[in-house]
Amino acid sequence: MPRRLSQCSNVDDLRDLARRRLPGPIFHYIDGAADDEVTYRRNTHAFEDYDLVPNVLAGVADIDMSVEVMGCQLGLPIFCSPTALQRLFHHDGERAVARAAEKFNTLFGVSSLGTVGLDEIGRLISTPKMFQFYFHKDRALNAAMLEMAQAAEFDILTLTVDTITGGNRERDLRTGFTTPPRLTPASAFQFAVKPSWALNFFLREKFELAQLKDHVGEGSNIAISVGDYFSTMLDQNMSWDDAAELRRSWGRKFCLKGVMSVADARRAVDMGADAIMISNHGGRQLDGARSPFDQLEEIVQAVGGDIEVILDGGIRRGTHVLKAMALGATACSGGRMYLYALAAAGQAGVEKALSNLHSEIERGMKLMGVTRLSQLKPEMIRRRQV
Ligand code: LAC
Repeated sequence: MPRRLSQCSNVDDLRDLARRRLPGPIFHYIDGAADDEVTYRRNTHAFEDYDLVPNVLAGVADIDMSVEVMGCQLGLPIFCSPTALQRLFHHDGERAVARAAEKFNTLFGVSSLGTVGLDEIGRLISTPKMFQFYFHKDRALNAAMLEMAQAAEFDILTLTVDTITGGNRERDLRTGFTTPPRLTPASAFQFAVKPSWALNFFLREKFELAQLKDHVGEGSNIAISVGDYFSTMLDQNMSWDDAAELRRSWGRKFCLKGVMSVADARRAVDMGADAIMISNHGGRQLDGARSPFDQLEEIVQAVGGDIEVILDGGIRRGTHVLKAMALGATACSGGRMYLYALAAAGQAGVEKALSNLHSEIERGMKLMGVTRLSQLKPEMIRRRQV
């Protein structure tokens, strides 16, 4: 079990450290998923059903792992997916992730349920930024969020499409996790046994959902579970027309997060989206859904030339990124892979997570016999006969 950041060689080590530092309900909010968590486990295990087939004697001293995502040049083929509530995990929250992403010249996604304002993140970093949009019933709130993202010069708007109702996150039900965290006798005990977390949380700036607080109390002053937030605050009638209208109002690069079927990928092309993120929300919504990696090949075959395809979820190793790139992904993204690190050690933690992945991707590319990610081809990966 690692006790220090320097001992964390991989995502699992960072997870162990996060578990040590966080009160139980908060760790389980990050770590947990829907129902039996079958999809959550499959998201990572799917990579093990495919084997890489390396080439040798290729002259691999100089590696270039850059990719282009929606017009943004990135230094790393994996970026930080938008995730909620980051100041609950570490008092620097989104500021820490933004600065770490900037160091690695990768994309950072800020959530509608983020805890630092878009204006501040816009001023803080000069590297590409994505704003993740939850389509609320409250149209004034939707318009205000769009305006904030435009004013802060975010490059990409990403509409999440897989949270039409709350997933059944049984770990959150068991721990009573809400945002903001509710002080009950049971939760007070969980906070008391992690005093350094509790001191930071209670003595530093007030916790609130920066993008939402001026419009809705839920999440900032009114405690609510994330599942209930989705079920009561978001518009369950959201349709392709709404997505198209949002894209038009935004006017810059536009992405749909949570597309899983070939049919929907085709509709994303038809509506003029620039990219899709193949994602099942980290297994936190529809348990039993297929994993993004299992869906990648057929989606790339159907729409690969017409839209950028980002593989979101399950990535724990550099070789997972290489497998996705070999099957035609434009880039990869992930949430927990950097959230554990944020919880473990703030900005230094996220930098460690990205640095570990950078080393693994570089080493993996050399061992695969490629110097550019575009040299990874479908013939360099085989699905094992199961
Ligand atoms: C989640 C949301 C908020 O908890 O992204 O999955």
